[in-house]
Amino acid sequence: MGVSEHSAERQQSRHEHYFTAEPSAASRPDTVRVQLPDVDLTLATDAGVFSGGRLDRGTRILLEHAPMPPVRGPLLDLGCGYGPIALTLATRRRRLPVWAVDVNDRALALTRANAAGLGNVSVARPDEVPDDVAFAGIYSNPPIRSGKAALHGLMERWLPRLVPGGRAYLVVHKHLGADSFTTWLRGAGWPTTRLTSVQGYRILEVEPCNSAAPR
Ligand SMILES: C[S@@+](CC[C@H](N)C(=O)[O-])C[C@H]1O[C@@H](n2cnc3c(N)ncnc32)[C@H](O)[C@@H]1O
Repeated sequence: MGVSEHSAERQQSRHEHYFTAEPSAASRPDTVRVQLPDVDLTLATDAGVFSGGRLDRGTRILLEHAPMPPVRGPLLDLGCGYGPIALTLATRRRRLPVWAVDVNDRALALTRANAAGLGNVSVARPDEVPDDVAFAGIYSNPPIRSGKAALHGLMERWLPRLVPGGRAYLVVHKHLGADSFTTWLRGAGWPTTRLTSVQGYRILEVEPCNSAAPR
């Protein structure tokens, strides 16, 4: 089991996952500091969202090691939680529209509050993102624990929305199936490169689907 998801999960009730739409966990407001070489944010968090007590290690590694966001947008944080990825992207690219998407209402409310000082973040449930929005960059610490079928469905829903030349950056721990996930992505037609591996966390770079490849 990956260190980060393991400890994040221990903060949830035994029977509830962080991707529950309406967490039943009693609210315990807190803050998390996101300190990176170029970003210093203090974000509101709560119980009932992923890694509400501290910046997840996989998320930190993604933010430290994935390439800087492109200079043209829009950008997407897929599965935003309380918003550490979306807020970092929006801080690094203040002129670009950043979409922050999640299914957890508490996470969406936290990201909305955390983005209040920035004018470039749209926080939305998946169905609320207009169909004609396509992304130059997708960044995600994806919800591995939602299961393979849900994870694959999530990729099939959002990766086709990369613009030509766009890239997705995903962080997945090797103990949570990063390598079989990579094999699946390639088999489904998305050229995927392992950019680096830090403490077992793979950073995957995914290119738009080559229409000639089998789907
Ligand atoms: C591993 S957590 C990452 C959260 C946050 N980005 C972070 O790094 O702390 C994955 C997130 O994906 C969300 N999620 C689960 N299923 C989803 C779906 N179908 N669409 C969008 N987000 C989803 C979960 O609610 C959770 O907040």
